[in-house]
Amino acid sequence: MTDATDILEQLSQIQAAALEELQRVKDEAGLQAWKAGHLGRNSPVMQVFTKLPQAPKEERPAIGQRANQVKLALESAFSTRNETLKEAALSQALQAERLDVTLPGREQAPGRLHLETRTLREVYHLFGEMGFQVYRSPDVETDDFNFGLLNIPEYHPARDMWDTFHTTTPGVVLRTHTSPGQIRAMREFAPDPIRVILPGMCYRYEQVTVRADIQFYQVEVLAVGRRITFGDLKGTLTQFARRMYGADVRLRLRPSYFPFTEPSAEMDVECFICGGKGCPVCKQSGWLEILGCGMMHPTVLQNGGYDPREFSGFAAGMGSGRIGMLRHRIKDIRYLWEDDMRFLEQF
Ligand code: DAH
Repeated sequence: MTDATDILEQLSQIQAAALEELQRVKDEAGLQAWKAGHLGRNSPVMQVFTKLPQAPKEERPAIGQRANQVKLALESAFSTRNETLKEAALSQALQAERLDVTLPGREQAPGRLHLETRTLREVYHLFGEMGFQVYRSPDVETDDFNFGLLNIPEYHPARDMWDTFHTTTPGVVLRTHTSPGQIRAMREFAPDPIRVILPGMCYRYEQVTVRADIQFYQVEVLAVGRRITFGDLKGTLTQFARRMYGADVRLRLRPSYFPFTEPSAEMDVECFICGGKGCPVCKQSGWLEILGCGMMHPTVLQNGGYDPREFSGFAAGMGSGRIGMLRHRIKDIRYLWEDDMRFLEQF
């Protein structure tokens, strides 16, 4: 070992050379190589420490101190350089991978209510204003509720009016209409007066056509009380139809037959396509049927728990899909439940 001044001089050179080299390091790999070469066990500074015991005793403190300074200087330069390189890499990545905010975004398809749901809510609203509440009854019914208690006995030809889906359990069917809910509501509320509407899906084992599907929504209307007359029926349904189809819509009540009402009628609105002149949509009649209705049959009132000598009532049943079709001039009822977005998005 030469004398101390030489070593101190050497240390300064070691530092200068290392720092200069560090400035040329461009990436992580280079940085690690630099660290091994300049701060590793065999690096020049570390060699000075290793050989320190061989230096003359009085020179050791000065050499040791200086070597320490150099080591610290290199360490701090290393971490500064490390930071700088990281920042550079990050900003380069940000440049290269920058989001192009001018690209059109992915379109959000906002959800909306199904046409049928909207029609139903409107029906609830209109009847709600006349004091009717919504009453729910089951989709799967017993034969008794769907037919028997509604004055349609087994083997009676009137059963042919409803093509029925039977389940594998004898006596259990998918309801063919919402009328069985009449019995359920009456049995719950008797002997109190009732004003309810009963919405729900109905099922029929029918040929699917533009006018008939195997499942469709109905809304049943039911009013039971003392001194309820055909005038109440006509007034309520007329008011409903005017608000639904327009104040000046022409309506008519036509005598009809249903086993659970007596007398029975059907309500027609003037054909919206031809304005009453006759066209293929209204089968040349000028009218479109919108609902069936009538005064409750005494037997049905009795089956619901009301004494027909004291109580009377009216009932009606309408297909709500029909309402939407008439208003939006939809020509095929199958669109309603086909779930084709091209159709549904129009409403
Ligand atoms: N339930 C009948 C049907 O589905 C419709 C109906 C007619 C309901 C007359 C009634 C009514 O409440 O009084 O064909």
